[in-house]
Amino acid sequence: MRPGEEAAVAALIHRSTNSWYRENLGREIFSGPPEDCWIFTETYGALDPGCCLVAEIDGKIAGSCFYHPRDSHVGLGIMNVDPAHAGHGVARALLAGVLERAGELPVRLMSSALNLDSYSLYTRAGFSPVAVYQDMVLPLDRPPPPPPLLPGTVRLANMADLFPMVDLETEVAGIHRAKDLAHFLRNPGGHWTTFVHRDAAGKIDGWLASVDHPGCRMIGPGVMRDDGTALALIHAQLAHRRGTSPVFLIPTHEMALVEELYGWGCRNVELHFAQVRGPYTQPEGVIMPSFLPESG
Ligand SMILES: CC(C)(COP(=O)(O)OP(=O)(O)OC[C@H]1O[C@@H](n2cnc3c(N)ncnc32)[C@H](O)[C@@H]1OP(=O)(O)O)[C@@H](O)C(=O)NCCC(=O)NCCS
Repeated sequence: MRPGEEAAVAALIHRSTNSWYRENLGREIFSGPPEDCWIFTETYGALDPGCCLVAEIDGKIAGSCFYHPRDSHVGLGIMNVDPAHAGHGVARALLAGVLERAGELPVRLMSSALNLDSYSLYTRAGFSPVAVYQDMVLPLDRPPPPPPLLPGTVRLANMADLFPMVDLETEVAGIHRAKDLAHFLRNPGGHWTTFVHRDAAGKIDGWLASVDHPGCRMIGPGVMRDDGTALALIHAQLAHRRGTSPVFLIPTHEMALVEELYGWGCRNVELHFAQVRGPYTQPEGVIMPSFLPESG
């Protein structure tokens, strides 16, 4: 993507995603105008300038894919192909370009379990699903959940928390990406909110970010040592975001967490796979991934 092409790519993200969801699942993801998808080009432009590949057909952008090189891995997404060019290998070509740039590093992404096109695209290229997440929301008409009665405290994060947060993610999830976490804490545009949880001894044992923008309203990413910490952080984000209904991804195997969230009235809206090409270690805690930045 060259400078000046951001608006065209944002419009492509909007058109491609809404068209796929409308045709296959009878709903749309972006309810506002294409300009709402500037949140993707702006966020990725700030984090990784120059890391977006586009495919051109007859001089027009037919597909785009962002990638996010980090010390431990390369994140991939968001990937989009113009519906007029679907099924002709555009995504495969973009993916090949990212894999070439990733070299030996593992490549990680989130793919919808309801989308066989993207599932097939990635698994044919050597990715494999390593974790399943249920996308949940707390409907607007539900009363706020009671705060969990657990030891430890939750507060808004600040810059002094950056390195404990980075270290915790490395310990729990095996990835290292200080750049992304610093972005949440700097909070450009005022869309980002991050909470940390501290254990009884005052040590950070969980953090959870969220983004509140018309193009992406979600809680995540975050990492926590255990499900109780996850619950306390989700509660803090939901209380902070009352009046909206952000989506958040919960590992399907965290049964106690899922059961508690059902008790709060949360509903499932989609399923996602974390897919990895290359080495992967099982997390030592709870991971809540996000689509912005795509965090596999
Ligand atoms: C998902 C998406 C990017 C795919 O783009 P595309 O250009 O149509 O995909 P391609 O034509 O490159 O096809 C990819 C591969 O999947 C294969 N494939 C597709 N459906 C398949 C199936 N059911 N079983 C096996 N393979 C399948 C294709 O054959 C192709 O592999 P090949 O080239 O080795 O034959 C596109 O549908 C899109 O933009 N969707 C909306 C946005 C979205 O969902 N993005 C993904 C978010 S992670």
